[in-house]
Amino acid sequence: RTVDWVAEDAEKGRYDHYMRKEISEQPTALAQTVEGRIDDTDDSGRQIDSGNDSDGNVADGSGDINAGSNGANSEKNNPEGVSLEACPPGTFTDVSAIQFVACGTSYHAALYGQQLLARRGVAAQTFRAGEYAMAPAPVDDDTLVIGVTQSGETADTLESLRRAAERGARTLALTNVVGSTAARECDDAMFIRAGPEIGVAATKTFSSQVATLALLAERIAGDVADAGGEDDQLLAELSTLPDAVQRVLDETRAMEVVDRYRGMDSYFFIGRGVAHPVACEGALKFKEITYEHAEGFAAGQLKHGPLALVTPNTPVFAVFTGRHTEKTLSNVREVQARGAPVIAVVSETNHEVIDTADATLTIPDAHPDIAAVLANVQLQLVAYHVADHLDRPIDKPRNLAKSVTVE
Ligand code: G6P
Repeated sequence: RTVDWVAEDAEKGRYDHYMRKEISEQPTALAQTVEGRIDDTDDSGRQIDSGNDSDGNVADGSGDINAGSNGANSEKNNPEGVSLEACPPGTFTDVSAIQFVACGTSYHAALYGQQLLARRGVAAQTFRAGEYAMAPAPVDDDTLVIGVTQSGETADTLESLRRAAERGARTLALTNVVGSTAARECDDAMFIRAGPEIGVAATKTFSSQVATLALLAERIAGDVADAGGEDDQLLAELSTLPDAVQRVLDETRAMEVVDRYRGMDSYFFIGRGVAHPVACEGALKFKEITYEHAEGFAAGQLKHGPLALVTPNTPVFAVFTGRHTEKTLSNVREVQARGAPVIAVVSETNHEVIDTADATLTIPDAHPDIAAVLANVQLQLVAYHVADHLDRPIDKPRNLAKSVTVE
């Protein structure tokens, strides 16, 4: 099943900017992303709904996680652009290696997906598509190459997917746009169903990409990892993610917090595990729309260079997910010792972090695999409020394009 895009979806409505509207739309987008993809009617617990009935036939689409068929049934370049069959258990049994190719925000979502797979015992690699297209990694016909691309039109990502397909890999497009080039050209397509995104800086599509990748990771792990078995708690929390994001939107203090840290030299973002791609995404959003210098780092990487830049004029946003808390806290203390103010993005129940940080942006308690999605919403709001204060053209930042169709 896909999501119909109607004209009003692409209007600004009561918001000053599309970006702000799209940040607010995340609960709806996420509800669409997971709708019908998690079966919570089974007494034995939640499971990913294959969309198939007991005879193995594709049902009316209600449970479709929208992967197409593959291998012998591959329908590359079919007239609809994608094959719309569900991907029942067993779809990925033949996969022995996984590579992600992506750019920009989608690259950060792919890094997040890589970690979700790793936690489930499945090795994956993530490549910046511009590099992969020039120097592709080795593949064979058991390699699944996943192009994560909101638009499905990014030239580097398309070229990477083509290079991989030429050399025999199986390709899957994880995209927002039905009928996009990536969806048409890949063996399979999985739709993130976020609805239209107009702001150049991607927001709601990141959240929907991560939610889709979480579902995909569960399915792939069930098929290929020895330690397969679905994480019922994660699936249950994915269903409640829209409400949790709504709480972040309703209760955020991002505007008030950023008021305290204006006009500084640079803004750093750190995190470990899935908080690392979110730190990078927070910094990307910040630099894209505020034009202020921002960088995201793996927290453990700080002492290998970035620490030399840390001063009282470099606020550090530290993202916490509920895992690796002590280690990230020790990084927080390292930067505080150099005078940098630390803004922790952390669960509202984590008093140790709240007491240590100079300021906090809290998120509801959540499964560590998805807590970083909530943290990312706070960081989107941080970037938005700073850019708005600076009167930047938020929806169309200078020199940037929504879809980069040249290599
Ligand atoms: C451009 C956009 C970004 C986007 C990236 C990848 O750089 O400005 O917001 O993340 O392209 O786009 P894609 O459509 O492939 O996700």
